[in-house]
Amino acid sequence: MNILLIGSGGREHALALAIAGSPSCDRLFVAPGNAGTAAHGENVSLDVADHDAVVAFCREKDVGLVVVGPEGPLVAGLVDDLAAAGIAAFGPRRVAAQLEGSKGYTKELCAEYGIPTAAFARFDALEPALANLAATGAPIVVKADGLAAGKGVVVAETAAEAEEALRAIFSGALGAAGASVVMEEKLEGEEVSFFALCDGKTALPLASAQDHKRVFDGDVGPNTGGMGAYSPAPVLTPALAERVMAEIVRPTLVAMAERGTPFVGILYAGLMLTAQGPKLIEYNVRFGDPEAQVLMPRLASDLVAAMLAACEGRLEGIDLRWRDDAALTVVLATRGYPGALETTGSTIGGLERAGALPGVSVFHAATAREGERLVARGGRVLAVTGTGRTLAAARDRAYEAVDRIDWPEGFHRRDIGWRALGRDGVGS
Ligand code: AMP
Ligand code: GLY
Repeated sequence: MNILLIGSGGREHALALAIAGSPSCDRLFVAPGNAGTAAHGENVSLDVADHDAVVAFCREKDVGLVVVGPEGPLVAGLVDDLAAAGIAAFGPRRVAAQLEGSKGYTKELCAEYGIPTAAFARFDALEPALANLAATGAPIVVKADGLAAGKGVVVAETAAEAEEALRAIFSGALGAAGASVVMEEKLEGEEVSFFALCDGKTALPLASAQDHKRVFDGDVGPNTGGMGAYSPAPVLTPALAERVMAEIVRPTLVAMAERGTPFVGILYAGLMLTAQGPKLIEYNVRFGDPEAQVLMPRLASDLVAAMLAACEGRLEGIDLRWRDDAALTVVLATRGYPGALETTGSTIGGLERAGALPGVSVFHAATAREGERLVARGGRVLAVTGTGRTLAAARDRAYEAVDRIDWPEGFHRRDIGWRALGRDGVGS
């Protein structure tokens, strides 16, 4: 079968590698892809916002499955339009994608179905939001309702910070994403991510993975899309995973099915492990980036077969198999990220030497080829994954590979995995 993968990040490079390795994949197209995905398929310059153009491309190339990497096209209803044209697509439809596309939608669903989450209130104007702030005080978390590329959440320690965030959102700083806000209780605990493959009725948990959202070593500095990740995440014990499935994931699938908008795709729950148990911080409706760069190298099952089973409602009785080896990935970003980038178009060297190490995969994100040169074209540029029998071994391999890369305009964290490695008693 011919497959079209939508997206251009490190996540999509990891997915492209897994899809191209499936016995059911004939031709793989990636729109728009990056310099890394070009090694596993054909990059095509499709405008994915133009759904008619995507449908026409699928018909012309006899595409039997579309895999949507990022949330934007899911929230925009690409899967609905493909389905209407009779083309199978992996990912939720528009309304189900509201689990990521609207924080208020998710909070109200949690309230209706008793899914544990922070206490909240939703506002669509500044004055009542300020009145709520005056009543509750700080700390408080202020969130723009819609997709805001990671810029929509302020964990305010003081009322002044919260007020500033509210004024910015309601003055249009985030555009339509800020048409309404959720204000919620600040949760205390350790954050973990949880992923499940869903077919609308059945959810299969994926292997555990955890990312590092802050830009600098020690988990300090501004939030990013993710500076590194590892799998497994020892904090997610089997008992805890079962609790998350029972209290959060399965009730969500039931709720979505009851509403007539069943959830198909990857449900990615951001959780806080509080003293009262796991609580939902937010949902994403896709694979994490860079979590996919540690999950895909560990997946022993056929990814395409699993995705088709999800699209066709056949996940019950299917078993996803994972390799015992651990995986750890280090993101290399352009200096300045997540703020203004110091450079663009700088040359990256040493990738062949890095990728030649055993147990290492170098995933591309914002890269492009300019003649013989590989150049950086954005914030997060590479994710270097090492695998090994233990997390410590995976970490050592990843950093050995990172140290072979010659890119003075880039930077990375040196402490990816520190929490898990400390917990293992391995030390870092
Ligand atoms: P989100 O975009 O919803 O993932 O929020 C970004 C980050 O803000 C999360 O990863 C958490 O670190 C933090 N956060 C969001 N909501 C809360 C909350 N209710 N309590 C504490 N931290 C939060
Ligand atoms: N790693 C965080 C995300 O994919 O949203």
